[in-house]
Amino acid sequence: MFGRVKPLDAILATAEKKSLHRSLGAFQLTMLGIGAVIGTGIFVLTAEAAQKAGPGMMVSFIIAGLVCAFAALCYAEMSSMVPVSGSAYTYSYAVMGELIAWMVGWALILEYAVAAGAVSVGWSGYVIGLLEHALNIDIPDTLVAGPFDGGAINLPAMFIAGLVTWLLVIGTRESATVNAVLVVIKVSALTLFCVLALPVMNSAQFSPFAPTGFIGVGMAAASIFFAYVGFDAVSTAAEETKNPQRNMPIGLIGSLTVCTVFYLLVAAGVIGAPGLSSQPVRDVAGIALEPGSRELAAQCAARAAEGFKDVVCSKEALAFTLREIGWPQIGNLLGLAAGLALPSVILMMMFGQTRIFFVMSRDGLLPASFSKIHPKYNTPHVITIITGVAVALFAAFFPVGQLANISNSGTLFAFAAVSIAVMVIRKTDPTRHRPFRTPAVWITAPISIAGCIYLFAMLDHKSIILFAIWAVIGFFVYFGYSRSRSHVGLGIVEVHEEDADVPPQPVPPLPGAPID
Ligand code: ALA
Repeated sequence: MFGRVKPLDAILATAEKKSLHRSLGAFQLTMLGIGAVIGTGIFVLTAEAAQKAGPGMMVSFIIAGLVCAFAALCYAEMSSMVPVSGSAYTYSYAVMGELIAWMVGWALILEYAVAAGAVSVGWSGYVIGLLEHALNIDIPDTLVAGPFDGGAINLPAMFIAGLVTWLLVIGTRESATVNAVLVVIKVSALTLFCVLALPVMNSAQFSPFAPTGFIGVGMAAASIFFAYVGFDAVSTAAEETKNPQRNMPIGLIGSLTVCTVFYLLVAAGVIGAPGLSSQPVRDVAGIALEPGSRELAAQCAARAAEGFKDVVCSKEALAFTLREIGWPQIGNLLGLAAGLALPSVILMMMFGQTRIFFVMSRDGLLPASFSKIHPKYNTPHVITIITGVAVALFAAFFPVGQLANISNSGTLFAFAAVSIAVMVIRKTDPTRHRPFRTPAVWITAPISIAGCIYLFAMLDHKSIILFAIWAVIGFFVYFGYSRSRSHVGLGIVEVHEEDADVPPQPVPPLPGAPID
């Protein structure tokens, strides 16, 4: 079961045929990382983190950032050594065999598709806030929030998921220029926020600093981990990087550091905002209510009616803060920036998802129809549309924090798997060329694994249970469907020329060749 390993040389032959031009330097890599990382996490989940940890969420940002930094260094070695599509799934296939690879791929579905749903809900919060404040259009909650958030269905979130699906079907890829423009928009919006919010900060607002104790800080870290997800985009660009040994760690650690510094400053601005409260909202018994629950939505509505200004109740925490400290127009502008920039994060997540599905389908583990290519657009339209429908449904009915936590469970699993893989392959294949080597791997990788386990354990119970159910379903699908159809299991080792980002055109089978 663990012996079904995809030969690394076959995987690498793919990459060699592809031979992308090495053009990315440290700066472009850092921009790529920031483009993929800054999104719903900081713009929206700051409220969720405050509900779990109060001002202590600043420590949560640091914990989550550190775990990501250690995982990033492991990712970088694997992706520089195996620079092909499929990321953690492919690395695991080469190192730990098909079953683990399948489980990682299965978990990545949670990472990417559910994350795309979470960012769609985050986008909806900002765009609705913008419409309400800038244009005075009052939209009933029933249509713009899911059933757990005090509404019935989140139509704007479904809309953006649908729009991004369509863009992907017609073959939209984000160019480096568009990415750079969006990074500038996001970074400018956060900088403006800091410039306006930090000088008026009131230090008394930071007390009590950790109203829910270290457990609360850990739980907030597990949620806010979402704010860092996406940096693997940097690792997957390994093959296009000039001097990866130098530039890869700069790109990874550079983008993580820039994001962490921004996150801390923004969090401080939100917590310190005079007149606002970033303390958890509690029930009558004094227990901090669960984020994304009907109880919290009801309590928030009651407190708002009494004139309380709770950050934790806002779906657009940063715009809300700016409006409350006397910058309503800039608050709207920030909403506009989020409205423009968040769809690119959704696009990257959904693109990542279709790519994983595509590779799994081509390996025979998922139906071949999943990798069907559109005759005109040359995109895997079937799987893109299936992914889009799932994302739209998640976005329509679930609260952003719950989706983020579920996504985190899959991501943490994949990060831990990659961190194990990097150690295993150091033992099994020590002489293979590694354009980037994880520094102090025997310390870095175990810290990364321990950090992933810690954050996973700190997730809410619902997410952990959902992850377990998803894993069990995955086992059934593997043993019921995939195992007997696996190309590696059937002894077919393929090398695809156009492997990385653009799916290959279907080619007629050679006479006598096994048919998918
Ligand atoms: N890190 C990305 C975000 O926060 C997924 O939206």
